[in-house]
Amino acid sequence: MKNNFIVGIDIGTNKICTVIGQLNEEGGETIEVIGYGVTESKGIRKGVIVDMNTTVEDIKKSVKEAELTAGVEIESAFVNISGAHIETRAGKGSINISGRNSEITKEDVDRAVKHGSGMLLPQDREILHILTQEFIVDSQEDIKNPIGMIGSNLDVYVVVVTATKTALNNLLTALKRAKINVSNVVLSHIAAAEAVLTEDEKDLGVALIDIGEGTTDFSVFEKGALSFAKSFPIGGVHFTNDLRVGIRVQADIADKIKRKYGLGLDADLHNENFETPSVGGKKKRMMPVSLLPQILRPRAEEILEIIKRELEKHRLDKRINAGIVITGGSSLLKDLHEVADEVFDAPIRLGTPEGVGGLIDKVSTPDFSTAVGLLKYGLIDYKNSGEFSTNNKGFFDKVKDFFGF
Ligand SMILES: Nc1ncnc2c1ncn2[C@@H]1O[C@H](COP(=O)(O)OP(=O)(O)OP(=O)(O)O)[C@@H](O)[C@H]1O
Ligand SMILES: [Mg+2]
Repeated sequence: MKNNFIVGIDIGTNKICTVIGQLNEEGGETIEVIGYGVTESKGIRKGVIVDMNTTVEDIKKSVKEAELTAGVEIESAFVNISGAHIETRAGKGSINISGRNSEITKEDVDRAVKHGSGMLLPQDREILHILTQEFIVDSQEDIKNPIGMIGSNLDVYVVVVTATKTALNNLLTALKRAKINVSNVVLSHIAAAEAVLTEDEKDLGVALIDIGEGTTDFSVFEKGALSFAKSFPIGGVHFTNDLRVGIRVQADIADKIKRKYGLGLDADLHNENFETPSVGGKKKRMMPVSLLPQILRPRAEEILEIIKRELEKHRLDKRINAGIVITGGSSLLKDLHEVADEVFDAPIRLGTPEGVGGLIDKVSTPDFSTAVGLLKYGLIDYKNSGEFSTNNKGFFDKVKDFFGF
């Protein structure tokens, strides 16, 4: 890492956000945000690139803006990936310890992880992360790092996160064309979790729902690590579209009304009216706020019920002892919390990014969870480099070779 900078670029459907962080001088333990750039994202749909040239230009613009505010030039960044193509698979590895004194070495751990993940590596997909959740030495469970322990058998629970080659290659190509070296590609869910979840929540079991513009990223963390992740092609754009069609206004007006009144459930607002502007010869109109819940509430229920069904389908609903955390720009939708309380039988809180210093005013709302999380992930990656880390060492070298970075 050059000059102690860590950079995150969140490539979203609504915005591309570059955040530049600097390691705190006292021991390099924390990050200060020293610059950011946010541009409208016009080449992404449902979390994946659909227009390469536009995306390259948007990334460049976002990076330039961040460089100007920070007064530095950047070369590399941690970037996120999401979309309906993301998959997770879970497995278990098991090996005998044959070494001197039965002491578990890094090689044993690697062997166990390889054994656990070997069956889970599909040929036609790219591996993003190989995560270890828990080690078991003989019959002793819940071990995070078994190196140096004595035992005759080592088990490990692993989770492999993969993406389609097409989605990943297009992302890497866009960054290459924007002249950014990719330090690592991070699953959006993992990045957002770094910014908004506490260690306790991740240990106890928690579901994270990141409702953005074009995707709803859903993940579950247990025993401190990701155990499940999926991305649904549904998000804030659907609320805007419902409103656009429901009250016949342009998308930008619908977005403004949505941001102002949310689902419109607040009883105090029920006698209020809002005005739709005159466009193209059409007159201004007055509409009752009480119309909004009829249009928007079913969509909120639909999104949350998709997640509820997913939790039940994978029997995760009984394992999220710390409840549910909702983040992403659409978590700001007024009254969403109320609907979530009705849908889920679990404690719910709004997740805002935490744990970085510096210019945090701009990046402390839920739409910046992924960007801030990329910085925090970058710090962990930096601290872990050279050691065994629970993330995707290996994958990126393959990709680097392929692209000749
Ligand atoms: N106050 C608000 N009330 C309601 N919706 C909001 C509010 N603020 C932002 N949004 C919505 O949040 C969405 C953008 O969220 P976010 O910035 O997290 O998306 P993204 O990361 O660019 O997209 P994605 O993650 O889906 O690829 C937009 O649909 C926007 O209208
Ligand atoms: Mg997002």
